[in-house]
Amino acid sequence: MNHFLDLHTAEPAALRAMIDQARAMKQARKDRPRGAPDDDRPLAGRMVALIFEKPSTRTRVSFDVGARQMGGQTMVLSGSDMQLGHGESIADTARVLSRYVDLIMMRTYEEATVQEMAEYASVPVINGLTNRTHPCQIMADVMTYEEHRGPIAGKKVVWSGDGNNVCASFLHGAGQFGFDFTFTGPQSLEPETEAIAFARSKGSRVEIERDPLRAVEGADLVVTDTWVSMHDSPSARERRHNQLRPYQVNDALMARAKPDALFMHCLPAHRDEEVTSKVMDGAHSVVFDEAENRLHAQKAVMRWCLGV
Ligand code: CP
Ligand code: NVA
Repeated sequence: MNHFLDLHTAEPAALRAMIDQARAMKQARKDRPRGAPDDDRPLAGRMVALIFEKPSTRTRVSFDVGARQMGGQTMVLSGSDMQLGHGESIADTARVLSRYVDLIMMRTYEEATVQEMAEYASVPVINGLTNRTHPCQIMADVMTYEEHRGPIAGKKVVWSGDGNNVCASFLHGAGQFGFDFTFTGPQSLEPETEAIAFARSKGSRVEIERDPLRAVEGADLVVTDTWVSMHDSPSARERRHNQLRPYQVNDALMARAKPDALFMHCLPAHRDEEVTSKVMDGAHSVVFDEAENRLHAQKAVMRWCLGV
């Protein structure tokens, strides 16, 4: 069963093939006459369930549009509207949904939830973000980097801010796609040690540098994310902001990176908190290409899951 649960548990060759296919599908859509339907409809006759236990704009819309572009049908389900949110077990939900649909994408809190869904489902399951990881995002990010600058292997990626779920998947991506990764942020918000160990075990150079200006020296790509994630307690907001303010991505920070460095953010951004509007809208930023590429990358992920 081709579940897409995490980058570090996937085959690097499969991940590379998905990126290549995503780029080819993006190009094919660009090349066709405006408004013409896609020729390629590999999901024809397939039903995709998209389950959200947390808010989403990009993941929701890009999976929905992507499946439809490939001829599939979708249903978007909110966890709280399902019996899942009212006591039905994950295992039973997985067994039932597998009788109706061909593919399940889930955004949830605990990593164990999506893993249990995959264990009991008889159809493929895709991780659409958990408290610990966000693998689909990093597929789009690798695709975006390579579209602009060529192979990401050997490049220096610097993460400035909270060592959160997106950061952990970036570390998994470092190991699988062969780039180096520097984290700069407060000690209490460092990325999880397993993700660092994974990247190192695959030969990536991973550095922790407390000083953000030193960290970004020689960076090919600078990345940040919100200072308060959906699973973080709102009561931690003020403390997190105070801790993370020195790690804001602004012009002074970008000036220390390579002149052709890119800036990425998975979005939604909190302008003038983790990143200034000037950087978001400036010459280094590729955040909207990144958002677009969620669509193309996830189309390739869905095809891989279904073997079509
Ligand atoms: N980047 C991302 O996953 O965005 P959404 O929360 O809008 O899906
Ligand atoms: N780290 C953020 C990512 C949102 C796409 C969160 O989990 O809220």
